Amino acid sequence: MATTFIILKPDAVERGLIGEITTRFERRGLRFLAFELRQLEASLVQQHYAEHRGKPFYDDLVAFLTRGPVVVGIIEGPAQVVEMVRTMMGATDSAKAAPGTIRGDLAMLVDENLIHGSDSPASAEREIGLFFPEFRPV
Ligand code: TYD
Ligand code: MG
Repeated sequence: MATTFIILKPDAVERGLIGEITTRFERRGLRFLAFELRQLEASLVQQHYAEHRGKPFYDDLVAFLTRGPVVVGIIEGPAQVVEMVRTMMGATDSAKAAPGTIRGDLAMLVDENLIHGSDSPASAEREIGLFFPEFRPV
């Protein structure tokens, strides 16, 4: 078994899509090990998205992630869970995301695209450490 990290972004919470998105993961057979509604500080979002610092969308991205509460979660699944969750999310630009994916079914913008999911096992480990420093896999 392996773990990955997700954020249900403020648009998902505002639009009342927490249940819809969570249910997709649970129906697939994946399990939440952590699930928490939180208002994020800009400093934490900046650390989380450090790889994007300096890009044209960076300031808007930080403002978006801090405009209201998010759900942060840890998902457990098979060895490929990081890739499974990314596939279920769909392409970053929701306008291009495939039907059947979370972004492809429920969103249409590149910035307000509902969900973050770690892009590699190393990212998952780093992001879980950042958002759930006390978390220990059982
Ligand atoms: P990125 O890590 O490239 O996408 P993903 O969330 O699929 O891993 O980008 C992080 C977030 O930044 C993305 O979810 C939405 C936002 N973003 C924009 O607003 N405009 C852009 O052109 C890109 C590439 C990302
Ligand atoms: Mg990313």
